[in-house]
Amino acid sequence: MYKILEKKDLTPAIHLFKIEAPAVAKKARPGQFVVIRIDEIGERIPLTIADWNSDEGSVTIVAMEVGTTTKRLAQLGQGDSIQDFVGPLGVPTEIENFGTVCCVAGGFAVAIVTPIARIMKEMGNKVISIMGARNKDLIFWEDELHNASDELIVMTDDGTYGRKGLVTEPLKEMLEAGTKIDRVIAIGPSMMMKYSALTTKPFGVKTIVSLNPIMVDGTGMCGCCRVSVGDETRFACVDGPDFDGHLVDWDLLFARQLIYAAEEKHSCKQWEDNQ
Ligand SMILES: Cc1cc2nc3c(=O)[nH]c(=O)nc-3n(C[C@H](O)[C@H](O)[C@H](O)COP(=O)(O)OP(=O)(O)OC[C@H]3O[C@@H](n4cnc5c(N)ncnc54)[C@H](O)[C@@H]3O)c2cc1C
Ligand code: FES
Repeated sequence: MYKILEKKDLTPAIHLFKIEAPAVAKKARPGQFVVIRIDEIGERIPLTIADWNSDEGSVTIVAMEVGTTTKRLAQLGQGDSIQDFVGPLGVPTEIENFGTVCCVAGGFAVAIVTPIARIMKEMGNKVISIMGARNKDLIFWEDELHNASDELIVMTDDGTYGRKGLVTEPLKEMLEAGTKIDRVIAIGPSMMMKYSALTTKPFGVKTIVSLNPIMVDGTGMCGCCRVSVGDETRFACVDGPDFDGHLVDWDLLFARQLIYAAEEKHSCKQWEDNQ
């Protein structure tokens, strides 16, 4: 069992859990993920490692409530335990001195992008970060991402905080103004990652996205996380989750993400009815 050492509600539907998992903490690298199972009847879901502390033996994950498992997870608190916590899985994010790196984060992904921005800065990169959320109430870790970056631009869709608009707008403006950007890391909802990649493509700036297809085993055996990148079939759990966003077949990803939509809706309703 893996004990929850700390739980914080970052927004009403986004929760941070610090989990006691020394073996995972010892090997974790930015961009990797874990597969968790709450209890023996629970489904397996992948969550990105947002932070880790190998001295303390802890790993931090941030989960947004979207369906049965993430809602069940949200009900747990400090002192509770989860059954399985497997990882670190996946290929770590490529970190080196590229020059100027623009980190673009949408929604809960601010928690994933922050350690990447911090390490990119430690490697000598100039880091310009853009974070976005639908509205002011969904903004969290602004200070953390600000401290990890040289510059931070905050966007909200409705303009209730920061600049009004989508994260792709300042990205496009910087590229059009000739700001030197050597690499973009865009993580968040799939649509946001797709449009970030479309924004940078005409400028030829390599853009890494972290793909989130449905995963089951997370170790390359079930084929569930199949994606197409540069016309090649790849398994996101072992070949990714980071890929070149300019080469991803986004339509295939969107279609495969919805394969179990009816079952997920049914499961969530059944769980809510039993509460
Ligand atoms: C590598 C990776 C890292 C991720 N990191 C995070 C993270 O750090 N924080 C976070 O909040 N979410 C993350 N996700 C998404 C998270 O796994 C899903 O939100 C979660 O599985 C939903 O489960 P559910 O039962 O709550 O919802 P459901 O109602 O079962 O599903 C809602 C939607 O979530 C997606 N989903 C469902 N089951 C899976 C699954 N087994 N694998 C992947 N996606 C699924 C589907 O798109 C589905 O339509 C990540 C996904 C991947 C692939
Ligand atoms: S999740 Fe099974 S092969 Fe990737």
